[in-house]
Amino acid sequence: MSARRRASMRMRSGVQPAIAWAAVAGFVLSSGAIASGPKLPPATNAAWKAECGSCHVAYPPGLLPAPSWRAVMAGLDRHFGTDATIDAPTAAAIEAFLVTNAGRDRSPSPAAGPILRITETRWFRHEHDEVAPAKFRSPEVKGASNCGACHLNADSGRFSEREIRIPRSQP
Ligand code: HEC
Ligand code: HEC
Repeated sequence: MSARRRASMRMRSGVQPAIAWAAVAGFVLSSGAIASGPKLPPATNAAWKAECGSCHVAYPPGLLPAPSWRAVMAGLDRHFGTDATIDAPTAAAIEAFLVTNAGRDRSPSPAAGPILRITETRWFRHEHDEVAPAKFRSPEVKGASNCGACHLNADSGRFSEREIRIPRSQP
């Protein structure tokens, strides 16, 4: 059994919830990217906001570890089914920003390489374990990657519990 799988089983069985929770919280809070309580404002960068916020919300750097950001930036020409190529100097500046403000890598990467999606991290699943899968699939939300459908201030990097509204499905 892999370490990854063991860790997730431990979390489910609740044997060491405090340790599991600390790992989860540390992953996200390390960069201060998530504003909840008196913390630094979310990290920002003009080129990142413009380039990486044009098709979807500019995903906060603290939500993925550095190896994941490097892998995302290395594959912009085939970016989740689309071409998101940008000029090399801008890409280098954005990568530096993402890596500097990345979250801590607390889970071993699967053999296939770094996780490219925030929505596939254990952290994300844990934060959203009370959101029914049907909510993510609804036509109003259009998938878990569409953070702004529920997080009203995702564009400003704010994801606090007080700023969430799950859209109601139309009959
Ligand atoms: C041309 C449009 C486009 C641009 C520009 C773009 N993306 Fe994306 N990105 C996408 C699409 C499409 C997806 C897949 C969304 C989905 O599955 O619903 C995606 C998904 C992602 C995801 C995974 C989200 C998840 O599911 O957790 C990350 C991370 C990401 N993009 C980072 C970036 C970064 C960093 C940049 C800037 C360098 C960028 N994107 C620029 C189109 C774009
Ligand atoms: C279908 C609606 C929906 C979508 C889409 C969604 N979330 Fe959430 N998110 C929620 C709900 C509901 C919670 C849990 C609030 C609770 O019960 O604590 C949550 C919790 C969170 C939290 C923890 C907030 C806190 O203060 O504890 C973060 C951070 C977060 N989401 C980030 C994201 C990101 C990043 C994306 C996109 C990649 C995303 N979410 C997509 C509904 C959504």
